Amino acid sequence: MRDTYRGLKVARIILENLSKKFAKIEAVRNVSLEVEDGELLVLVGPSGCGKSTTLRMIAGLEEPSSGKIYIGDRSVSGLAPKDRDIAMVFQEYALYPHMTVYKNLAFGLKMRGFPKDEIDRRVKEAAGILGITELLDRKPRELSGGQRQRVALGRTIVRKPAAFLFDEPLSNLDAKLRVQMRAELSKLHHSLKSTIVYVTHDQVEAMTMGTKIVIMKDGEIQQVGRPMEIYKRPLNMFVAGFIGSPSMNFFPARIVSANSEILIETESFRVPVPREMHHQYQNLSGREVIFGIRPEDIHSSDFMKELGEEAPVNGIVEVIEPLGPEILLDIRCGESSFVARVDPRVETELGQEIKLIFNMEKMHVFEANSPHRRIGD
Ligand SMILES: Nc1ncnc2c1ncn2[C@@H]1O[C@H](COP(=O)(O)OP(=O)(O)OP(=O)(O)O)[C@@H](O)[C@H]1O
Ligand SMILES: [Mg+2]
Repeated sequence: MRDTYRGLKVARIILENLSKKFAKIEAVRNVSLEVEDGELLVLVGPSGCGKSTTLRMIAGLEEPSSGKIYIGDRSVSGLAPKDRDIAMVFQEYALYPHMTVYKNLAFGLKMRGFPKDEIDRRVKEAAGILGITELLDRKPRELSGGQRQRVALGRTIVRKPAAFLFDEPLSNLDAKLRVQMRAELSKLHHSLKSTIVYVTHDQVEAMTMGTKIVIMKDGEIQQVGRPMEIYKRPLNMFVAGFIGSPSMNFFPARIVSANSEILIETESFRVPVPREMHHQYQNLSGREVIFGIRPEDIHSSDFMKELGEEAPVNGIVEVIEPLGPEILLDIRCGESSFVARVDPRVETELGQEIKLIFNMEKMHVFEANSPHRRIGD
């Protein structure tokens, strides 16, 4: 554990083969993870995948069925939540309605017997960091949702814990405020340099905030990595579909070699594997796979000349969603359908045929069988 310039202790958190069973439900299975000192680690996954349970075990609110947790250098097994030197912020935070913001921030420290001048110093410092200094005399009902959220955060900051645990703290805010608070939390992390474990089911939040992302499904870790690393190289089809919006398109396919070419053949189209990537798929001729390509890697041939036209995929436009900087198209091609995110200059109409180019350097290939592991680099 080390001390930062603000006197905040930071600590790494280590989870070792952590499992939790509730009667027959295995909420968390064999999770091993290291949250480095000062890192903002995001736990992300669909509802029920075990995110909150993992966080609650770190906080000491839930007893692990097996496995170990270390905070700083010590094992915290058997240690009460209040002795773990961590602070947790939930989705449902409750401020004391009859107290001013100042008193809300001071309350925890007062209960712990801190001297008055130390409390005053910490409250003002936290208010400064969060930009709520001018709100200190107000009551919670006189605050906006975002301001209340900041007060809830402030209550944890004044304690100067070794680590912060956040469980979907922004989910009660409207979309615009959420984006703003997301940025503020990132800045806060940057200035506090504290260890943070942040839980969300929102992959955009995970991508934008995390220095490291952990993707969970059914109680198990699917992949750990930096956001762009996971985006570029998802290790299985679940992660590939979960990270990125709109989701990656998937097609049952077969790898075929013809002359000196390697092709991905679906029931509706054939596209060539770039020559530089041949070595990865050379020995897989005839193999059934899942072919994946992200909407943003499919272009209208009119606006992506540099990709060449060696293998355009023709399809019928079924839905048009103009978003401003881009247009989303739902395309039908034979038995397959997919989403393309094309140049905003594309002019098309429902039912029209359109010529699309897949950027095959960005293709993904997964095993046909569950858990659909990635094939190739
Ligand atoms: N106290 C409990 N008793 C029984 N089952 C529980 C309990 N708490 C959680 N579970 C179950 O454990 C699994 C994981 O729950 P958890 O709350 O960790 O999911 P989550 O990833 O946080 O989901 P969400 O995004 O919906 O908050 C779920 O199947 C849930 O129903
Ligand atoms: Mg939860």
